[in-house]
Amino acid sequence: MPTLPPGPSTPRFVQAFATLTQPHRGMRRLRDRYGDAFTTYIPPFGETPILSNPGEIKQLFQTSSDIAETLEPNLGRVLGPGSLFALKGDAHKSQRKLLIPPFHGKKLIAFEQLVEEETVRETATWQEGRAFPVLPSTGRITLNAILRAVFGAEGDELAALRELLPRMVKLGSRLLFLPIPQRGGKWSPWGRYRAMRRQYDDVIDRLIDKAERDDDLDDRNDVLAMMLQSRYDDGTAMSRRDVADQLLTLLAAGHETTATTLAWLVERLRRHPAVLDELVAENDAGGRELRDAVIVEVQRVRPVIDLVGRHLKADLTLGRWELPKGRNVLVSIDLIHDDPAVFANPRAFDPSRFRGEKPDLYHWIPFGGGIRRCLGAAFATMELNVVLRTWLRDFTFVPTDEPDERWYSRGVANQPAKGGLAVVRRRTVRVRPNETATSTTGAQSQSGSAEAAQRAHRWADGRRSETSRAGAATKQEDV
Ligand code: HEM
Repeated sequence: MPTLPPGPSTPRFVQAFATLTQPHRGMRRLRDRYGDAFTTYIPPFGETPILSNPGEIKQLFQTSSDIAETLEPNLGRVLGPGSLFALKGDAHKSQRKLLIPPFHGKKLIAFEQLVEEETVRETATWQEGRAFPVLPSTGRITLNAILRAVFGAEGDELAALRELLPRMVKLGSRLLFLPIPQRGGKWSPWGRYRAMRRQYDDVIDRLIDKAERDDDLDDRNDVLAMMLQSRYDDGTAMSRRDVADQLLTLLAAGHETTATTLAWLVERLRRHPAVLDELVAENDAGGRELRDAVIVEVQRVRPVIDLVGRHLKADLTLGRWELPKGRNVLVSIDLIHDDPAVFANPRAFDPSRFRGEKPDLYHWIPFGGGIRRCLGAAFATMELNVVLRTWLRDFTFVPTDEPDERWYSRGVANQPAKGGLAVVRRRTVRVRPNETATSTTGAQSQSGSAEAAQRAHRWADGRRSETSRAGAATKQEDV
């Protein structure tokens, strides 16, 4: 007999209404009532066990994909059949094997300069002293970073993709749960999406043509160039359509998630002036330990993805539960991060808990886990690090004692309800003659441009009075 975790006995539509309208608070309420595993009805997954027990999550992530497969039934229809999200079993394993090398930490050093350039370019338009939501701005930084680092796009192709892809990803995310009509005009949502996809494929064909004519392809660092040169175990290359599906997948998975995390960074840091002060001092001195810890901590207290799922292809005994074949299971990232048995005083934003410490990858799980763990985790971490260090170098973030921004669920990513309101001042800078910049990997900065090098050698003298005005106490917050 299956033993599912306990859960509410209210009618299904009441349970569905609660989880859909208040996903974040609703889950926390159920956890408070039933404990670290409960079952509730969630469309379109059905009666679904939701897990936040560390041992059970670890076991699920370590379960073979023959038993627990990904739960992304619709993504393949939108991103294409070659998308990593759509592939299962051996096809997924061999595709992932091909894609891992370009996302390896060492390869990513090459992208730091590009991310810094995009940050400097975007922030040139920031206005001082006025509150503005930072999310649209971080969205442009992460879009451009992916288009250049992953797609290897420059010039006309960069401009075309920059215009097309945000519209296409937005429409695609609305189509996720819409049936594909047998017949549908070109103005129907699917008709419009297909037209965009044709335009997208044309641009990718042009990028691939250019790459194939490029005598220096071997020396290129972008992910497209590496995909074109990679081979499956049987010696064959990726098809053009698979390359196109995979690039679209990387953009869809990596653009909004990273941009939203950056917005939460602004939201959290402006409410923790003592951390902000220390972070600036560390950055000015060329250090990074606290910055690394801040990036881990913000993703613990404000994970942008709440839940990851698996579909059971066979019966599974998981910790205390007997889960039957055919059942979908969700892991709650938020609830394990919020568990006082796992993280002391879990609602406090306290980066010191990760200072000089690597998080346990089965307790700290913003990137999911196991064979499906986020492929772009190292890329995202590099981006967060470079954007933050560039911001800290060039701007003072003015602290605030306004209430915390609420979590606002935008389908997949949880964003700060006001978009991460920022108030900034450009730093008053002087050039320190003999200082060198430190890269996110601890190596010397790759920055080649005179402007970037000069910026990296600056330090500020005008910010302390501003941050101290707002008070130094680190707040204990709730949500
Ligand atoms: C802060 C930023 C990001 C967060 C929080 C995030 C989170 C996640 C999560 C939770 C998953 C599902 C993991 C699972 O099912 O266990 C995932 C999968 C994935 N992510 Fe990310 N992600 C981020 C950035 C990126 C970036 C920058 C890229 C690529 C450029 C990327 C590419 C992918 C891919 C390809 C998958 C599917 C992996 C597979 O099925 O094998 N992500 N991500």
